Amino acid sequence: MKNNIIIDKMSIDDLDSIKSVLQDEFDDFWNYNVFKEELENENSYYIVAKLENNIVAFGGIWKSVDDIHITNIVVRKNFRKLGIGSIILEHLIKIGRNIKNIQSITLEVNDKNIPAINLYLKYGFEKVGLRKNYYGLDQNAIIMTLNFNNI
Ligand SMILES: CC(C)(COP(=O)(O)OP(=O)(O)OC[C@H]1O[C@@H](n2cnc3c(N)ncnc32)[C@H](O)[C@@H]1OP(=O)(O)O)[C@@H](O)C(=O)NCCC(=O)NCCS
Repeated sequence: MKNNIIIDKMSIDDLDSIKSVLQDEFDDFWNYNVFKEELENENSYYIVAKLENNIVAFGGIWKSVDDIHITNIVVRKNFRKLGIGSIILEHLIKIGRNIKNIQSITLEVNDKNIPAINLYLKYGFEKVGLRKNYYGLDQNAIIMTLNFNNI
């Protein structure tokens, strides 16, 4: 199954094709309009994972001067625990490593989101900070960084 996954740059057409299932089958983290603005932002880069032409995951980054920031990685609910999140993360890391002057990748993750924290730890990210109430009351964010100098 993993071998049949195709990774592509995400387009507005891709977003439109999952618009109706974005909330139920992925996760309700951004609404369509915010996501569309993200795709149009020149400092953002999003990828999709397709299986038999169906989008099963997506993930993206923002680029700043010497760091990139992973904004999200979301795998379709029925396709989790199959290695697809790892494929997306590996691609985002590869993209980061290929951009000149980028030293690290940073992200925030809810401190209760064990699947995501484990995924990032598995790829060498380290917990470097905590933002209290970042996502709301008692919803703290852990800041995690992958330093290219360390790998
Ligand atoms: C986090 C997420 C992207 C992981 O995607 P996935 O395709 O299920 O992950 P993979 O199958 O590639 O698993 C990779 C590693 O992640 C960790 N992991 C994934 N699911 C897990 C779970 N339910 N419980 C604990 N660890 C888990 C494990 O370390 C796993 O490695 P292993 O298989 O060797 O144990 C997916 O759960 C998701 O879409 N969650 C909702 C959106 C979200 O919270 N995204 C992160 C916000 S930035």
